[in-house]
Amino acid sequence: MYKTTNNNPISPVAIRTELFSRRSFGFIVEHNGRKHFKQEEALRILTDGEHTEFLYGGAAGGAKSWTGCTWLAFMCLTYPGTKWFIGRESLKRLRESTLLTFFKVCAHYGINRNKDFRYNGQDHYIQFANGSRIDLLDLRYLPSDPLYERYGSTEYTGGWIEEGGEVNFGAYDTLKTRVGRHLNDRYGILPKLFISCNPKKNWMYAAFYKPAKEGVLPPHRIYLPCLVQENPFIESSYISQLQSASDKVKKERLLRGNWEYDDSPNALCTYDAIAAIFTNDLAHRTGVKYITADVARFGSDKARILVWDGYVVIEQLCFDISRTTQIQEAITALRLKHNVPRYRTIADEDGVGGGVVDNCRITGFTNNARPIGGENYHNLQTQCGYRLAEHINASRIAIEAQVSTEERENLITELQQLQAWDTDSDGKLKLKPKEQIKADIGHSPDWRDVLLMRCYFDFADMEIPHCLDKGYFGL
Ligand SMILES: Nc1ncnc2c1ncn2[C@@H]1O[C@H](COP(=O)(O)OP(=O)(O)OP(=O)(O)O)[C@@H](O)[C@H]1O
Ligand SMILES: [Mg+2]
Repeated sequence: MYKTTNNNPISPVAIRTELFSRRSFGFIVEHNGRKHFKQEEALRILTDGEHTEFLYGGAAGGAKSWTGCTWLAFMCLTYPGTKWFIGRESLKRLRESTLLTFFKVCAHYGINRNKDFRYNGQDHYIQFANGSRIDLLDLRYLPSDPLYERYGSTEYTGGWIEEGGEVNFGAYDTLKTRVGRHLNDRYGILPKLFISCNPKKNWMYAAFYKPAKEGVLPPHRIYLPCLVQENPFIESSYISQLQSASDKVKKERLLRGNWEYDDSPNALCTYDAIAAIFTNDLAHRTGVKYITADVARFGSDKARILVWDGYVVIEQLCFDISRTTQIQEAITALRLKHNVPRYRTIADEDGVGGGVVDNCRITGFTNNARPIGGENYHNLQTQCGYRLAEHINASRIAIEAQVSTEERENLITELQQLQAWDTDSDGKLKLKPKEQIKADIGHSPDWRDVLLMRCYFDFADMEIPHCLDKGYFGL
């Protein structure tokens, strides 16, 4: 035992806290001749003066929870009076899992539950004897509080979103503004939001994973992947269990850290079927051409136009939504170029789309119209979305038009959002709503909408096309 100058023993916790404050993490990341290099890097990032948002993990078992608990416990001990949070989609799971890891971590480093800190199970917070505190936050999405105003005025030194894949975009967006507000200047601590995760195509993919892959992450953000194979402290059964999983999606995501696989059980298409669209040689051109245009764009600034030959997209254009005249001119020019009659040209009729439909005298698509042929769908858009998924799964759709890598990824992400949603009380099939998709992926599903409109023509010959109704014939 170390002694102070007046011969009092220094506790092991005090020594570890001192080591932590000097960013000397060996006592955490090294045991029995083995070292967790990624964990050390993670702890360096968590205590640096450079990054304010840090995404860690992207696979199972890399020591995400242990790292988060260790970081918070020692930050609390190092900086008396500071205030932190751990947030998770469900407070119940936070208490039943992450909190238990926190207790385990504290016991492992000799931090005494009743002496150094106490847990208040009624109001869900951890109170340290030195005045520091960790709140446990329930980050469930509440329709009555979509912007997470319940946390909009709380002030934290820093915090941790555990299992970011389960958490709504609004929680991240609000909480990142709540850190850096309690004693940060006094102690010279940068505001820090730590996010631990398994791969998930939600806001983490858009804000961290994808920009990191492309080398365009803004300097205040960082993504550090860590696979279970990089954790030397993992139980061997953990890896063999993952390896023996028969579910390919699970294995790709959790064992290999593959972000392109989404595991929503409600997804109507598999990742492989969607990605195959760009190299699909099974879809054939029929010589019958169509144009679909998505121009209404509530909440989006893009208008997309596709030219189809059968179910093959042969040309695509994208415009700023404000340029309505240009959009109209483009639709007409494409019609003439590809010889597509008005009745096989369709644009959504909502918002500014109504003007485009009228001025170009083409067929209008109303998302909320009743499904054609009396089928059991919530509305026309749902009917077409389900049909689009069928075509994708049957390898009938191909995109041969030039599409940038970034747009391809957007398209794949959006089509993964083609998901079954709560059925109405009347039992009608529904799609995951646009607002929910936007909350999850951070942008409006433009590609999904312009693609699904093509399916209107699968059903349309059951009814008189709208433009024929209006007397618009031929070219
Ligand atoms: N520094 C460490 N010292 C001792 N054991 C550690 C350390 N870091 C991680 N571990 C061990 O590694 C295992 C996995 O860690 P942890 O539960 O934090 O991983 P995870 O990434 O959160 O996993 P999951 O994906 O299952 O949530 C645990 O059994 C934990 O005890
Ligand atoms: Mg964990």
